[in-house]
Amino acid sequence: MTERKRASATACSNIAFIKYWGKQDFDWNVPLNDSISMNLSGAVTTTTVEWDANLAQDEIYLEGERVLDERGLRISRYLDRIRDDWYRMGARVASVNSFPAGTGIASSASGFAALASAAIAAFHEGHPDESDMTRWARRGSGSACRSIQAGFVEWTAGSSDADSLSQQFCPPEHWDLTDLVVLVSRSPKTISSSQGHRIAVAHPFMKERQKLLPSRMLALKGALAKRDFSTFGEIVEHEAMEVQAIMMSGQPSALYMQPGTMELIHAVRSWREDDGLAVYFTLDAGPNMHVLCESGNAPEVRRRIEKLVPRVEIIENRAGPGAKLHDDHLF
Ligand code: DP6
Repeated sequence: MTERKRASATACSNIAFIKYWGKQDFDWNVPLNDSISMNLSGAVTTTTVEWDANLAQDEIYLEGERVLDERGLRISRYLDRIRDDWYRMGARVASVNSFPAGTGIASSASGFAALASAAIAAFHEGHPDESDMTRWARRGSGSACRSIQAGFVEWTAGSSDADSLSQQFCPPEHWDLTDLVVLVSRSPKTISSSQGHRIAVAHPFMKERQKLLPSRMLALKGALAKRDFSTFGEIVEHEAMEVQAIMMSGQPSALYMQPGTMELIHAVRSWREDDGLAVYFTLDAGPNMHVLCESGNAPEVRRRIEKLVPRVEIIENRAGPGAKLHDDHLF
């Protein structure tokens, strides 16, 4: 084994149409239910990992700055799992995002997908097996496993670390959808998604949700396969509101929506119902709006958002690629 091994990877974030909210196993991020998402071409993380036998302690750099806080500790704890399995070595990690920091865009999905890919590839000195990659990404952050494959990706919950895996449902070119992420607020969220998953499992509505999800998932996949945008949008919006309701009515309550979120929800519904524009939305554990349309309508939808909220920052995404290894090392 050589003394130093380095690899770099790039991965997109993703937006879930059927959400992962609640876990069976908190150590390994095994979810309560299957979920499905689209990779976000405009929200990308690039990470370089170098295992170094001469390094006593990990060195973690995010956006060029050495980090010693909880973010660095989370990465080191994750690397410990790899070290437990394979070998004991320090790691030098550098990671940069294509999207501005602190905007509430889910950087843990792209972050852990890129980190897992680079860390494991550096060890293997080659391309690891894909299901192994989705497993390693999930262990870092559940939603990260859906960023390993390209396009539209399904995560089968399974019942343990061994069988909780993601797979591609259809490639990016299957459907030209656009997700306009509207950065409604930059204020940090008071309840992290990790905490949110714990609150969710104790929620009395959760049992009912689990009963409803298999048929919802089937309907969503049918609409995706047929590129039936209105059926797809109705399901996605309903799913988003159901998960928000569980978040808001949990103990403690997680109210992620801000006034700007609510303003956009009403606007999207009015553009659709009053003006006949085919546009829907979804939300994650944060205030930012994901406004969804077929790409032919994206310029019109964008124009309306910019008119309603002048100077607001928008990240425009199509269905993005999967995680990729490359030689563009950050150091
Ligand atoms: C609302 O993947 O961030 O975005 O596994 O604890 O890291 P951890 O949680 P995380 O949860 C994401 C939840 C969500 C919905 C989704 O992406 O499916």
